Amino acid sequence: TTPLIIDTDPGVDDAFALALAVASPEVELLGVTTVFGNVGLERTTQNALRLRALLGREDVPVAAGADRPLVHPQPHLSTAHGSDGLSGFAHTLPEPTTGVDERDAVSLLRELLEAADRPVTVVPIGPLTNIAALLAAHPRLKPKIGRLVIMGGGIGGGNVTARAEFNLWSDPEAARRVLVEEDVPTTLVTVDLTWRCAVDGAWLERVGRAGAGRALVGLTPDYRESYRRSLGWDGMALHDAVAVAEAVRPGLLRTTRYPVEVDCAFGPSRGGLVVDQRLTTDQAKKVDVATDADLDEVRAFILDRLTTLS
Ligand code: BDR
Ligand code: CA
Repeated sequence: TTPLIIDTDPGVDDAFALALAVASPEVELLGVTTVFGNVGLERTTQNALRLRALLGREDVPVAAGADRPLVHPQPHLSTAHGSDGLSGFAHTLPEPTTGVDERDAVSLLRELLEAADRPVTVVPIGPLTNIAALLAAHPRLKPKIGRLVIMGGGIGGGNVTARAEFNLWSDPEAARRVLVEEDVPTTLVTVDLTWRCAVDGAWLERVGRAGAGRALVGLTPDYRESYRRSLGWDGMALHDAVAVAEAVRPGLLRTTRYPVEVDCAFGPSRGGLVVDQRLTTDQAKKVDVATDADLDEVRAFILDRLTTLS
């Protein structure tokens, strides 16, 4: 099994991503770290604790991390995930019986990486603030990270502004540090592909028939409403769960290796991802950008796993 750590800001699709990790025997979930993002840090942390209780994994430590971006303030929270980050239904999840870890997110990441006897896959599915802080503070731990599988960015455009995707836009300086400056093997799962893997009402109905899946689907109304409003379609993107699917099953997504940049200037493209598709470049760090997949296979894989949850 591959050891796995998820850095998250739950978030409806984060909830599906955590559930997929718990339901996947190929990985061993070592820990969960939380970050501000879809909602504030206090709520993302509470949501992670409740999701951990729902999934019967209160043994997995949850540590809280950054409550804001590294340099500049986040202009606003997400509008897609409802008032509490889980469509207003966080209270329907079980009360946690154990609390948040006393270590902060960077300390937990450090200790888990130090103790690991195999390279760890780290899956950031929120703003990249905790990961930038970790790599800045503890560069010697980089070889312990087998791969970062990041959900973020958009090649063709964004979802929060015309150019920027939410996770990169929420902390562009942190994203730039991780995606451009740090020499760690990185797979980037952008909205271009996660949109194409979106699931419809029938898929959600199947997940919601029994077990923890029923509670998960109960968290989706506001999130689905945002798709209904913008697209006139009943369904939702599973963004973060697609990144976890790739972490669980390396190669599920097809990737192409490109240098990337993150626009940190204050203008209409702030937080935007720039993928350099030229054949020649001097830039050392290159990122494996997920560009394609068998979309039905991705949806079927996630469905299959989520319906095994008791
Ligand atoms: C990303 O932004 C958040 O709203 C989602 O949880 C996901 O991580 C998609 O752009
Ligand atoms: Ca997220």
